[in-house]
Amino acid sequence: MTRTRPFVVIAIVGLVVSAAWLAELTLPDAQAEQPPTGPPKAADRGHAHGDHEHPSVPPAYAKAHIPSQVWTDPKMIAKGKEIFVAKCALCHGEKGDGKGPGSANLPLKPADLTDGKMVAEMADNFWIWRVSEGGLVEPFKSKGSAMPAWKGEMSMNDRWAVIAYAHTLSGHRGPHVAGEHPELKPKPKFVTGEGTVISLRPEKQQIVLEHGEIKGFMEAMTMGYKINPVSLLNTVKSGDKVRFTIDTHARAITKIDKLND
Ligand code: HEC
Repeated sequence: MTRTRPFVVIAIVGLVVSAAWLAELTLPDAQAEQPPTGPPKAADRGHAHGDHEHPSVPPAYAKAHIPSQVWTDPKMIAKGKEIFVAKCALCHGEKGDGKGPGSANLPLKPADLTDGKMVAEMADNFWIWRVSEGGLVEPFKSKGSAMPAWKGEMSMNDRWAVIAYAHTLSGHRGPHVAGEHPELKPKPKFVTGEGTVISLRPEKQQIVLEHGEIKGFMEAMTMGYKINPVSLLNTVKSGDKVRFTIDTHARAITKIDKLND
């Protein structure tokens, strides 16, 4: 049994490295995906910066995009600054750090828009959705979000402007596009990797794998993955060399084949 110890440690390191992956998935059930030994904090930081989450953009806003030149257009940024000072700074703070005078008693703290890493993950349609609908939509509503919905009060052009200005508060000067923020690139639906089975955890519907780099998706690491259907666990055992497929939308390994014998 003592043999499993080193792997536990590696799994924790793997979790931290994979925070970006978990962030993409923004799943409420992220907890279920990590090996039981993983520190919850490490995974949390990835997808749920402090108090708040970045859930998927609803269909109505999926196609809402900001023309790339808007992000760096000085006129739009200047106009956005006026709007921000007038309508946003009360809560988000003049600097965007979330510490505005109106933020003190809010149950859910305003996001820190100076956090470059967090902002880098927010696609343009996510920005538009959040600024348009504010905290009137789930999951923010039930958490008591005070973020107002601005769609009735601000034209789309003004929303673009304030977003472009807010984006500069993260310290980024270029356009907010995938070319500049690799975090924004859509992930493929299926990715395939190869590695070794470390352990099976049928009670958690999980498999722990040590695997090599998954090109364009994830570094080499050892971590626990959800497996679906769970009966796939009957086809492999610890120590097997395997090839596996991750369904990045279902957030699970959906295919696994032995490579040896
Ligand atoms: C009354 C306070 C208040 C005002 C005014 C306000 N916000 Fe917010 N905002 C919040 C709170 C609280 C949150 C965090 C809860 C949430 O995400 O709904 C938030 C969240 C956000 C988010 C989501 C960030 C993320 O990481 O998910 C964006 C974007 C945002 N605000 C932009 C703005 C902009 C732009 C304005 C001005 C047009 C504005 N807010 C005005 C309180 C406010």
